[in-house]
Amino acid sequence: MPIHPDLLVGLESPDDAGVYRLNDDLAIIQTLDFFTPIVDDPYSFGQIAAANAMSDIYAMGGDPLTAMNIICFPVNTMDISVLQETLKGGLDKIKEAGALLVGGHSVEDNEFKYGLSVTGTVHPEQVLTNRGARPGDILILTKPIGTGIINTAIKGNLADKRLINEVTEIMSCLNGAAKDESIRFDISACTDVTGFGLLGHACEMIENQDIGLRIDTHKIPLIEKAMDFANMGIVPAGTHRNRDFRRGCLKGYETTKPAFMDVLFDPQTSGGLLIAVRREEGGILEQALREKGVKDASIIGEFVDEPKGMIILQD
Ligand code: CO
Ligand code: CO
Ligand code: CO
Repeated sequence: MPIHPDLLVGLESPDDAGVYRLNDDLAIIQTLDFFTPIVDDPYSFGQIAAANAMSDIYAMGGDPLTAMNIICFPVNTMDISVLQETLKGGLDKIKEAGALLVGGHSVEDNEFKYGLSVTGTVHPEQVLTNRGARPGDILILTKPIGTGIINTAIKGNLADKRLINEVTEIMSCLNGAAKDESIRFDISACTDVTGFGLLGHACEMIENQDIGLRIDTHKIPLIEKAMDFANMGIVPAGTHRNRDFRRGCLKGYETTKPAFMDVLFDPQTSGGLLIAVRREEGGILEQALREKGVKDASIIGEFVDEPKGMIILQD
């Protein structure tokens, strides 16, 4: 039951962003996201927060047009240069995306938080919702998972400089290149992997749908060290919430190693896109993405007729 004929994507089912049709050729996409610092370097944090906020625009098949800063800052206890560097990182990422910073708002707060409200554009007929995948479609993931676990390790001073750099690069990478390449193919659904983890977001693609999903777990790209930390029990609290919420829609839960399950439900910051593409084009799109610099893009499974609304985990 749509609330308004031009509200193409609203609150009736969970999706990455809202989409409103302005006319037959143009719709706007609106989203916002902000959070507390996840890495120590303020410039990197700004880049990550902006890439993360703009990702939901790409996940709907659009391009970011304008952005506004959302800032909560402890002005009495934190050096103002931290804020300046963060905003610089965010602005550089907005520019890289080809969007414009048009304003923002800041409030004093005990805890520093930063993010963006973003408006994007898309053709109304090219909106990519997270549902709509067809049986036989191939599922591609464009970034490795494990950022939440690595961020937890960083907070516990367990990550070395190289690992911090690696995860920073993954999280600050825009999903724009992956989106641009993918829309040249016959794709039926798209979302991005964020707080609910890989399996949480994959589940949204099939929930209450006439299809199921088979995931080949050994094909999932992982940040190498994430598995090691998961084995040591270093996982964010959200992991267990994600798992408990969705375990009912998994086949193969009992036979999957618990630490690996933690990785599959690890909440991601600025994670990759999950793209459903017509079977015949799966391999070509995977290859094309890699050639365009989306080097971890991998086919991780396929949509199936049965069991409906379920994910089969296959080793
Ligand atoms: Co999203
Ligand atoms: Co979001
Ligand atoms: Co989408």
